[in-house]
Amino acid sequence: MSATRLTFYQTTIGKKVVMALSGVILIGFVIVHMLGNLQILQELVAPGKGATALNDYAAFLHSMPGVVWAARLVLLGAVAAHAWSGISLVRQNRAARPVAYARQECQATTMAARTMKWGGLTLLAFIVFHLLHLTCGLIPGFAPNMTDDGRLDVYRNVVSGFQSPAVAGFYVVAQAFLGLHLYHGVWSMLQTLGLSRPRVNAWRVKAATAVAVVVAVGNISIPVAVLAGLLK
Ligand code: HEM
Repeated sequence: MSATRLTFYQTTIGKKVVMALSGVILIGFVIVHMLGNLQILQELVAPGKGATALNDYAAFLHSMPGVVWAARLVLLGAVAAHAWSGISLVRQNRAARPVAYARQECQATTMAARTMKWGGLTLLAFIVFHLLHLTCGLIPGFAPNMTDDGRLDVYRNVVSGFQSPAVAGFYVVAQAFLGLHLYHGVWSMLQTLGLSRPRVNAWRVKAATAVAVVVAVGNISIPVAVLAGLLK
């Protein structure tokens, strides 16, 4: 009988490490992007301030095309590695158990774990829509706005974009999936990176909950504030 040697990536743990490391990059982006976008909420306490802060922040990023393109390439690589390893893991797990369990007990993470595949696909659809919407301005019925001094009016784009209840609703649903995905993702990533002992498990659940709730609530607050007429 001939034994086949597997490369590290071909093993389940190899794929999980790729998922965890690409996941760290994506979580970092999602948190920084949310913090940048939340500057818009300054508008609630000082009219004009949120718009200026968001537009200045966008102009600052656009003034460094080299950095922006480097970040885009890293993000694209991370999304591709993450999705590819995720799909291979699902296939590998299915091949290892061609007959499904007759009965499956629900565990603490299963709700989030069971939505990883569909949640991940919803997030991919969201990212494609989001780029066509606020980065490329290619969604029918949405025209990108410019400020009087010829800069991209990101504030006006966000507000006019979310004044469509269908668009705002899709963003809210996608952020709920993002929260579930982040919950299971952070929980699982910390396990892959070695934090899996009874003493740290409770801490792992708390960290996963905190990241998921902060990101989902932070992002959802923007379309909700527009729909509620608080951001105009
Ligand atoms: C309500 C939540 C969100 C808002 C208001 C928002 C807003 C924006 C805006 C205004 C832009 C264009 C910025 C510019 O051109 O200067 C943008 C770009 C982008 N957003 Fe979001 N975003 C949200 C959530 C997300 C999420 C959850 C993700 C990822 C899962 C994401 C990924 C991206 C990416 C990849 C870009 C393109 C960056 C680039 O390459 O220029 N966004 N977002």
